[in-house]
Amino acid sequence: MSGPLILPWRGKWPKIAPDAFIAPTATIIGDVEIGPLSSVWFGCILRADVNIMRIGARTNIQDGTIVHVDSGGYATIIGDDVLIGHKAMIHGTTIEDKGFIGMCATTMDGVVVEAEAMVAAGALVSPGKRVGKRQLWAGMPAKYVRDLTDAQLAGMAKGVAAYAERGVEIREMIATLK
Ligand SMILES: CC(C)(COP(=O)(O)OP(=O)(O)OC[C@H]1O[C@@H](n2cnc3c(N)ncnc32)[C@H](O)[C@@H]1OP(=O)(O)O)[C@@H](O)C(=O)NCCC(=O)NCCS
Repeated sequence: MSGPLILPWRGKWPKIAPDAFIAPTATIIGDVEIGPLSSVWFGCILRADVNIMRIGARTNIQDGTIVHVDSGGYATIIGDDVLIGHKAMIHGTTIEDKGFIGMCATTMDGVVVEAEAMVAAGALVSPGKRVGKRQLWAGMPAKYVRDLTDAQLAGMAKGVAAYAERGVEIREMIATLK
């Protein structure tokens, strides 16, 4: 089985923790760093050509998501224990630890999603907006909806842990196919 497509850009290769899971159909280009036990699922594209991209530990980037950086000055910095749902578009954005991006959501240049905040499925977070700590934002354009409860934060943490475990499991399974 062939592995993911990992490419350099202007001499910079992605640096990926040895225990991270990168799906065979993912593409990762340029100045990207990915921390331990993080996972990048099928069909994702992470392209750090005109700026840097950093991804912390135990973060999952689910299938079909595109992550890019901004040539106008915004890197993409994603912290630890972040969940990014299927088919999201993350562009020149900072997502702090335990942030949650719903499936099909878009975050544009200069957006900051603070720690433990959630962007709802399908939301469009317009340039430069700051999603405050523990807040839920939704809609197109996205607006503040409410603060998240402890129960919701616990649910988000459970999702992150499940993805980290699943990443290890699928990595081991794929290794047996080689
Ligand atoms: C926003 C969210 C957290 C649910 O919030 P909620 O308040 O519990 O939602 P409810 O299901 O009670 O719906 C309340 C209202 O919000 C609307 N709503 C729900 N999700 C919405 C969303 N993502 N965007 C806009 N409106 C939404 C509902 O239609 C409903 O509207 P109504 O009162 O006019 O009928 C959830 O829908 C969501 O987006 N979760 C992210 C899931 C995900 O992407 N996971 C990643 C893959 S694992």
